[in-house]
Amino acid sequence: MGMPISKAVIPAAGLGTRFLPATKAMPKEMLPVVDKPAIQYVVEEAVNAGLHDVLMITGRNKNALENHFDRATEIEAQLEKKGDKRRLQEILHSTNLANMHYVRQLDPRGLGHAVLRSQMHVGQEPFAVLLGDDLIDPRDVLLERMIEVHDQNFASVVALMEVEPNQTHLYGIATVEATDAPDVVRITGLVEKPDPKDAPSRLAVIGRYVLQPDIFPILEATEPGSGGEIQLTDALNSLASSGVAGGVYGVVFTGRRYDTGDRLDYLKAIVQVAASRDDLGPDFVAWLKTFTSSV
Ligand code: UTP
Repeated sequence: MGMPISKAVIPAAGLGTRFLPATKAMPKEMLPVVDKPAIQYVVEEAVNAGLHDVLMITGRNKNALENHFDRATEIEAQLEKKGDKRRLQEILHSTNLANMHYVRQLDPRGLGHAVLRSQMHVGQEPFAVLLGDDLIDPRDVLLERMIEVHDQNFASVVALMEVEPNQTHLYGIATVEATDAPDVVRITGLVEKPDPKDAPSRLAVIGRYVLQPDIFPILEATEPGSGGEIQLTDALNSLASSGVAGGVYGVVFTGRRYDTGDRLDYLKAIVQVAASRDDLGPDFVAWLKTFTSSV
């Protein structure tokens, strides 16, 4: 029997250079999507999938991340005094959301290196990895399905999404074989950020993973790859091509996903989330229609 998954690892130690100067002194994961920082959606997603133990990989300039999930006693006291129960509940929600842990990466030497920093906390259990700047729309199901596929196959599972050929150089791209389930593929190889002419498919790895602990010794042995960074994709490629520890499966996601580390996608995320909100949506959409017909 495999072990049930209870731990989520959220790497959030990247420098966020695509979003400078906003990220000069503030983590990109704290950028708000309407009225919540992007990172809160990611932690909520983990908790909704039953993962209440969350380890965040942070670094210098990332204190705001820890503070966001801590108590804010002065604000709580103020809101209580004013009788503002709704806002009080909202700030207590992020405080009580999950059992939060933090570890620093020291030097941002790549996503694979960040995941390796979780080894002591994770131990010998399978675990999930959610990238702190990748948002999956809460109306679409992904992580639960990945956990199901992990439990059926006792193997690592990554989330895949079809991208345009001119986008392959931005992602890890998979070589795949079909399985009996229409949304699941078996991955036989992975390559990080290939040119369109070298890309083995249009299936790109997006920021959700369910990993067997066997990934750790492989990461330890992984040399720096694309961009001089230790790439999680390279370690997953070893797992996929050797078939060790059940190999690697992919769940092909067709729902809504936003990369909040990219400026255009970040703007799209805000518009789509705001439009779907009961409190802001109707007024916002009405305004948006007039605005788009005037530009
Ligand atoms: P990205 O490449 O999107 O993040 O890494 P980045 O380096 O912060 O962004 P840019 O390209 O400079 O704008 C994907 C994820 O991996 C984390 C990032 O925080 C992000 O969630 N990461 C990346 C780390 O935790 N450590 C690293 O060394 C690199």
